[in-house]
Amino acid sequence: MQPSQVSLVQATFDKVLPISDVAAQIFYDRLFQLDPSIRRLFNGDLRMQGKKLMDALSIIVGNLNRPDRILPGVRALGRRHAAYGVENHHYATVGEALLWTLARTKVVVEGAAAAPVAAVLNGLVEADTGAPTSAMACVV
Ligand code: HEM
Repeated sequence: MQPSQVSLVQATFDKVLPISDVAAQIFYDRLFQLDPSIRRLFNGDLRMQGKKLMDALSIIVGNLNRPDRILPGVRALGRRHAAYGVENHHYATVGEALLWTLARTKVVVEGAAAAPVAAVLNGLVEADTGAPTSAMACVV
C-alpha cells in the first residue's frame, strides 16, 4: 500500500469517526439487508458491537503504515471470527456494507482509497490462513 493511499484511507476514516455510532447502525442495517442469514451470528447488543468494530477499525486504520504492530492482533481477530461462524464470503458482504455506509454518510472515498478500504475487510479471514503477505493485505 502506497503512503498516499494510507493517507487517503486515514483521512476518510477520520471523517467517519465523529459519526461512528450512526455509521455503525447504518452499517448493520445494510449488512443484514444484504444477507439476512448473517443476523443470527450476532448474539450481543449491536450498539456495543458497533463500538467494538469501530474501535478495531480505528486501530487498524491508524497503523496502516506500521502493519507489524497490528498483524498479531488482526490474525487473532480473524481466528476468533472463524469461531463465531464467520466465513470467507462474509467479508465481501461486510466490505460492500461498509462502502455503502460511507456513501450514505456522504463520506467520499476517493478512487485510490476505495480498493484499499475494501481490501482491509477481505484480508482478515486470510490472516487466519497463516499467510503473512495475505494478512498484510488486510491493511492494504
Ligand atoms: C472488517 C473487519 C472486521 C472487524 C475489524 C471486526 C471486528 C470485530 C470485533 C472487534 C469484534 C468483538 C469481538 C472480538 O474482538 O473478537 C467482533 C465480533 C464479531 N464480528 Fe466482526 N469484525 C470484522 C468483520 C466481520 C465479518 C465479515 C463478520 C461476519 C459477517 C463479523 C461478525 C462478527 C460476529 C458474529 C461477532 C461476535 C458478535 C457477538 O458475539 O454477538 N465480523 N468483530
